[in-house]
Amino acid sequence: MDILYFFKYYFYTMLEIRNLNVILENINKRFYILRDISFSLEKKEILGLVGESGSGKTILGKTILGLIKSPLRKISGEIYFKEEKINEENIKNIRGKKISMIFQNPTASLNPVFTIENQLIETIKNSARGITYSEAKERAVNLLKKVEIDNPLHRLKNYPHNLSGGMNQRVMIALALASNPEILIADEPTTALDVTVQANIINLLKMLNSDMGLSIIFITHDLSLIKKIADRVAVIYAGEIVEVIEKDRLIAEKFRHPYSMLLNKCIPGLHSREEKLTTIPGEITQNTEEYENKCIFYERCPVKIEICRNKKPVFKSGCKCFNPVSQ
Ligand SMILES: Nc1ncnc2c1ncn2[C@@H]1O[C@H](COP(=O)(O)OP(=O)(O)OP(=O)(O)O)[C@@H](O)[C@H]1O
Ligand SMILES: [Mg+2]
Repeated sequence: MDILYFFKYYFYTMLEIRNLNVILENINKRFYILRDISFSLEKKEILGLVGESGSGKTILGKTILGLIKSPLRKISGEIYFKEEKINEENIKNIRGKKISMIFQNPTASLNPVFTIENQLIETIKNSARGITYSEAKERAVNLLKKVEIDNPLHRLKNYPHNLSGGMNQRVMIALALASNPEILIADEPTTALDVTVQANIINLLKMLNSDMGLSIIFITHDLSLIKKIADRVAVIYAGEIVEVIEKDRLIAEKFRHPYSMLLNKCIPGLHSREEKLTTIPGEITQNTEEYENKCIFYERCPVKIEICRNKKPVFKSGCKCFNPVSQ
């Protein structure tokens, strides 16, 4: 393979987010939902986005696609799809076409009164203008095959309630792939599923990543799950990315930020009974003006030092912390 082609194919930034700030604002309150978020997603990369409930994972996915509305508001920051800066105009040609998102809760996203065929064909027709019904149906069958649904012609006639949770999740993935996207944002795609089905969906996403070159942002609150799939993991707490962990450090459980370390201790079944935590003590912080000059994890941090109270750490060497737990 030509060396230049190799670099272009494998090392290509698909998505870049620079200094993104999203606030929640109404008459009696104003605080950050996402504060100073910067990261990139490379071609063929699977980037994990992990954090507790309420940390801003879904809102980040929605902000990329221009789907947030009042009382949430993007106040600053740029988002690039490849070299193109996303704005209100071009997002219409990117959302659901170049970048697809699988939303949390598949049964709520599928329409119960339409067959799988209706839903797939509508999506295919929307993304390929002028396509005939039989061509669209052929694509629908191929998509179901791609997500490894047996007997696709028969399945097309089914309604969502005829299918199992895992099967519906595969249909959701097929719908997201209908427009041949280059990026897939998968928001907790396996949370509602049992462990074996979960593993199958993870393998399917890995296969789509390696065979189709799909870049994926995989959102979860489960660090043990993300280890099975991600090349890199961004850890988000109360709307701030506090650490980005490379694969080798992730496997070695070598975390820098105390929050990542505690999140890792929450993994059920990996640690001894004594050591196991089911949740991190304390509650997630609201990212108010107070944290302009204070570490966002200050209240819950087991290794805080004096400076953390009066100064906000900047993101440096993969971590946003004055007193990292490892170098
Ligand atoms: N439509 C909305 N209006 C106001 N606040 C919202 C809205 N949607 C989300 N929020 C708030 O934004 C914050 C981030 O929410 P988000 O749904 O992104 O969390 P999450 O990390 O996806 O959590 P989970 O793991 O539970 O899905 C939360 O404090 C939430 O209450
Ligand atoms: Mg969410």
